[in-house]
Amino acid sequence: MSNKAMALKGEGRDIIGLSAGEPDFDTPDNIKEAAIAAIRRGETKYTAVDGIPELKKAIAAKFKRENGLDYKPAQVSVGTGGKQVLFNALLATVNPGDEVVIPSPYWVSYPDIVLLAGGKPVPVETTLEDKFKLKPEVLARAITPRTKWLIFNSPSNPTGAAYTGVELKMLTDVLLDHPHVWVLTDDMYEHLVYDEFQFVTPAQVEPRLYERTLTMNGVSKAYCMTGWRIGYGAGPEALIKAMAKLQSQSTSNPSSIAQWAAVEALNGPQDFIPRHNKVFKERRDLVVSMLNQAKGISCPTPEGAFYVYPSCAGSIGRKAPSGNVIGTDEDFATELLAAEGVAVVHGAAFGMSPFFRISYATATELLEDACRRIQRFCGNLR
Ligand SMILES: Cc1ncc(COP(=O)(O)O)c(C=O)c1O
Repeated sequence: MSNKAMALKGEGRDIIGLSAGEPDFDTPDNIKEAAIAAIRRGETKYTAVDGIPELKKAIAAKFKRENGLDYKPAQVSVGTGGKQVLFNALLATVNPGDEVVIPSPYWVSYPDIVLLAGGKPVPVETTLEDKFKLKPEVLARAITPRTKWLIFNSPSNPTGAAYTGVELKMLTDVLLDHPHVWVLTDDMYEHLVYDEFQFVTPAQVEPRLYERTLTMNGVSKAYCMTGWRIGYGAGPEALIKAMAKLQSQSTSNPSSIAQWAAVEALNGPQDFIPRHNKVFKERRDLVVSMLNQAKGISCPTPEGAFYVYPSCAGSIGRKAPSGNVIGTDEDFATELLAAEGVAVVHGAAFGMSPFFRISYATATELLEDACRRIQRFCGNLR
């Protein structure tokens, strides 16, 4: 959708892109300066495959400070983005036929990486009524003797849903009954939560899962560093070693310069995070309110990330200005782009229809304009 939107923009069309999964804020200056200083010091050579000791130490300190989790540097793995950490973990552990439980809607990469590893993705549905949060009984039903991992993502891409301590504990209780199931928690949006929401992560809520949890996180989203490509994970040493072995024969170390920038991100001032969150929260409230005023759209208020995942069920079966009937959420996104120049991502891409994802990590005036166009589009459907 981003590519389509860019192509139309190139043709001179007035397009508003709401499909990108990255903050519109720039990387903070102190982080940029740390990278420049690293270059000047000559930190431009190969490093240890899965991260420099200084970064592993900063990550271990972050886990202690923010999540109350004790990890030694040897339990920490640094990769080229959170995606590589996830990729390494799944490729290192999933055997042919192994099942990986993935709550849907999900971030698009999870099932594809599982497939690449020879495993079987097992999507488990959530509902709009449950605000897209997995129910413990649904999780229990999805687990079989072949289940290797549960992939857990809170706050979620694409829904923004985040689990409270109580909600998460109900899921970790289920996992206590299934000691063969490991937990891969993707905490990438940890810092992007609103309305005093308290973020929690599985190993913190249930310490008995510590020995079978990989806690994954990164600097991409909260520190506005998507292009720097630094993500990390922490877990049992044997798993971390296997992941490093895989990385040593693929990409080797993440960029030495980006690693030093990440040290500054984690150890330096954190005050810009609440400043950004204030803006994100205002945008979330604006988008949710305006979308709920659009005919046939229903949009819950998510706890975090910078996405909303509204239902477009009310548009299905209706006729767009082009004369085409909207049969799916992909049709909805295509017709919306054609008629009003607003680019969103259709829900089928995330495994749950009929919905679409909007990223509100874009200028407030543009969001307002985009929501007005969506209202007009929905109002014009026949
Ligand atoms: C849920 C989730 N996990 C992981 C990632 C990957 O992060 P990175 O850019 O650090 O690889 C993303 C990026 O969009 C994401 O949305």
